[in-house]
Amino acid sequence: MERNDLKISYVKCQYDELDDEMRKLADKAREATRASYSPYSGYAVGAAVLLEDGTIVTGCNQENIAYPSGLCAERTALFAAGAAHPGKAVTALAVAAFHEGKFTPEPVTPCGACRQVLSETELRYGRKVRVLLTGADYCIFIEGGAGDLLPFSFSF
Ligand code: THU
Repeated sequence: MERNDLKISYVKCQYDELDDEMRKLADKAREATRASYSPYSGYAVGAAVLLEDGTIVTGCNQENIAYPSGLCAERTALFAAGAAHPGKAVTALAVAAFHEGKFTPEPVTPCGACRQVLSETELRYGRKVRVLLTGADYCIFIEGGAGDLLPFSFSF
């Protein structure tokens, strides 16, 4: 028998402390919340995906009256990127949420299904996907890549 430990590193920072590339990605994620279709939750999420050539693809949550038929912002953006730019590696993703008239103070954190898709995106392109979780009060930057958000992701 052996005991193992997992450790993840993340950076907690202010929006102003982000480098230009990540600040732009955060801005795009915030902008993307405006196109959210979220009449049931009232929780508008935006995501922005950065590709290896600098292209940015955005997405936002799309809800449905048959609740499970809806899709989160992160997967909307990742699948849109995969559909329009199948050969281009994803290198970063930023996410933002707008609720009750303002961007959420705390950083928004992706659900498990989105983490699974992020994890496979890393495998697909053989590149880490840095993840920026934005909040109005502070941001969390997972520089080590999306795999850190989902240890033991499903694979076979
Ligand atoms: N949602 C996202 O789009 N991304 C997240 O990271 C968390 C949750 C959406 C799903 C649903 O439309 C709404 O937020 C409330 O759960």
